[in-house]
Amino acid sequence: MVVALHAVRSLPESAEVTISLVTVEAIEAGIDGIDPRPLKGAGFEGKADQVHIWPEGARSRALVGLGSESEIDHRSFRRAGAVLARACSRYGRVGVELPAGGSATTGVRQALAEGVVLGGYSFSALKSNPTKPELRRVDVAGSAGVGAGNELKRGMAIATGQCLARDLVNEPGGSLTAPALADRAAEIGREAGLGVKVWTEAEIARQKLGGLLGVNRGSTNPARFVELTYRPEGEATAMLALVGKGVTFDAGGLNIKTAAGMLAMKMDMSGAAAVIGAMSVIGGLALTVEVRAFLPMTDNMLGGDATRPGDVLTIRNGKTIEVVNTDAEGRLILADALSLASEAKPDAIVDLATLTGACMVALGPRIAGLMGNDEAWIAQIQAAATAAGERVWPLPLPGDYESQFESDVADMKNLGGAHGGALTAALILKQFVADGIAWAHLDIAGPAFSDAVDGEMVKGGTGFGVRTLVELAAGFTRPS
Ligand code: BES
Ligand code: MN
Ligand code: ZN
Repeated sequence: MVVALHAVRSLPESAEVTISLVTVEAIEAGIDGIDPRPLKGAGFEGKADQVHIWPEGARSRALVGLGSESEIDHRSFRRAGAVLARACSRYGRVGVELPAGGSATTGVRQALAEGVVLGGYSFSALKSNPTKPELRRVDVAGSAGVGAGNELKRGMAIATGQCLARDLVNEPGGSLTAPALADRAAEIGREAGLGVKVWTEAEIARQKLGGLLGVNRGSTNPARFVELTYRPEGEATAMLALVGKGVTFDAGGLNIKTAAGMLAMKMDMSGAAAVIGAMSVIGGLALTVEVRAFLPMTDNMLGGDATRPGDVLTIRNGKTIEVVNTDAEGRLILADALSLASEAKPDAIVDLATLTGACMVALGPRIAGLMGNDEAWIAQIQAAATAAGERVWPLPLPGDYESQFESDVADMKNLGGAHGGALTAALILKQFVADGIAWAHLDIAGPAFSDAVDGEMVKGGTGFGVRTLVELAAGFTRPS
């Protein structure tokens, strides 16, 4: 993290820009000491995403819009934080005043801090002459109390975990291979004080992870399986399992993707990246629940001995899958991971995966699909996502669709019918969750990667899911 936020009673002289977060109503009513005419001229009305900066003496003054009072919540502050971080990237130190009154309540400072860190993010590791933001320090006025400082710190920690996930997603598939991703996960895990276990090829074979081996068969880079564990100080009150799809590059295998379809497929490990980013934060939160992460990692290539359409793989739990399309690889490696997660007997499992283009057809590019076998657990995840400001929406898991992936030669095939692909993919995952365990699946194919700047989202890897997972772990209660 390059920028830090501090809680201060009043803004110091050294702030190069004094920024006020303002509502539409405040602009209409007029702000003391600010001439409304240039604001009007510039079209500044206090709406979300609007920003106006002007020189005032030796320093500068800025207004950032929050929107109308009736629609303002923590998301408005996250967005405003991102907008101000980008607008002030050429300054080193700025100060922010929150609006007076009711809207500056709990959660607002955390959201603002998240927005500043996330909005100021850029992936410049591979630029020979990067334009790096200068912004190092943001003072937040009217909030010198311990509570305010802690809120800012929590926001910074969570956003830093999310930026870590973004870095992993943005690194190209040719350099962030499965062994490289495993090394990074292990390093991050150790730094966060987590238990770390890495299985290499031989161990993966001994452990009978047939899905992971089958997908890896066309690659010259070996597969990895990583487990990260957070154990609380005392006895754990519950156990939560996180699973993340770690396909470091999805060429499609022998069912090769089109050029356009393959272009962004370095992002196919976004589920694993979100879990790793969340675990890096969870390690520092002193939670009372045990959290275990299960991360299968491989690329999906088409070498001379790659898995062929028609091949049958035996998954960890003994079930067999006929691979009718090698591009439906995520479910194959997640089958192993969900089997292993089930063996740990957690109180609940949630998996994150860039699983289907069909989920993007259903919900578009910004919303994740949420499916599962337990309504209370689904509701808990939806509530966590809402609190974290991430967009998820429930989709059904119709039991009668299971007939779509019946196989003539194996227990199932890895593909359903032509339509409803997000649902049949999730129904296939469900076959690998042990009976009686609450499980939910987030298909993040859309929101994991962005082609535009939008609020706290930037182009490229978004780190979607990190905030929801941290919120979920922090408030986790056994479902049903
Ligand atoms: N990784 C892709 C899904 C994906 C597509 C993620 C676009 C992000 C953006 C997945 O492995 C895949 O290839 N899915 C296929 C499944 C099909 C072969 C049944 C798809 O969605 O086309
Ligand atoms: Mn694929
Ligand atoms: Zn994939």
